[in-house]
Amino acid sequence: MQPTVTPFLHKPTGTWSYVVADPGAREAVVIDPVLDYDWRSGRTGTASADQVVAHCAAAGLTVKWILETHAHADHLSSAKYLKSKLGGAIAIGSGIRQVQATFKRVFGLGDEFVPDGRQFDRLLADGESLDVGRIAVRVIAVPGHTSDSVAYLIGDALFVGDTIFMPDGGSARCDFPGGDAAELFRSIQRLYALPASTRVFVCHDYAPGGREIQFETTIAEQRASNIHVRDGTTEQEFVAMRRARDATLDVPNLIIPSVQVNIRAGDLPPPDSDGVSYLRVPVNRIGRPL
Ligand SMILES: [Fe+2]
Repeated sequence: MQPTVTPFLHKPTGTWSYVVADPGAREAVVIDPVLDYDWRSGRTGTASADQVVAHCAAAGLTVKWILETHAHADHLSSAKYLKSKLGGAIAIGSGIRQVQATFKRVFGLGDEFVPDGRQFDRLLADGESLDVGRIAVRVIAVPGHTSDSVAYLIGDALFVGDTIFMPDGGSARCDFPGGDAAELFRSIQRLYALPASTRVFVCHDYAPGGREIQFETTIAEQRASNIHVRDGTTEQEFVAMRRARDATLDVPNLIIPSVQVNIRAGDLPPPDSDGVSYLRVPVNRIGRPL
């Protein structure tokens, strides 16, 4: 079964979101939707999310699920906003509880924030299935970049989140709390065991070498030419490469606002008595051992 996949690029963060539909049943899921955020002013915006809303309305789609591949550290999620506009239930991998517990400590969050996943409508375990029209959505746990990372296999289309990028972009970093390069290698092997013709949709593309921005490849292409992990790459080689590379990477621009919103399923923190939501900046904390 081949679902219809409509990509949406969020240029400021290089993020690809997707609407995946069973054209016959007119049911759809939204994957990794983005909330605009201007760090200079602390203002959020919905212009990008509204493109998804407009598409679903124009195509007459009923949104059943809003799916996150993980709690992103580079962009804010618009899952809550989209749910208010389109309906559907928000789901993420069950490893979100560990991510929430970790970042509750990092951000010094109070008792109002309970790290048990209750902010989401559904927590997904490896091997679970959801239905979209006549198409099953299969959940594949792919920890390594983060402990809550999952991929979604919908018909012949695989949404890999931050595991692998386009073949010339390699793989995701593993130096966030809960990240583990050996685990990511094994997760990628699980994806590479899928049929070679499986369509692969990435969560980010940074257009290396100035080429056109891209979003779709196949398992066959990844196995033949992914610059970090292809057929023949050993776990040891991958882990050594990943550790060396991660040591050179900057902290993502939006990690501080993103994580605080994304562990709340795209909600802002509850407002203070003045009606304003505040995000916290832990000074000299990120990058320090937990
Ligand atoms: Fe990520």
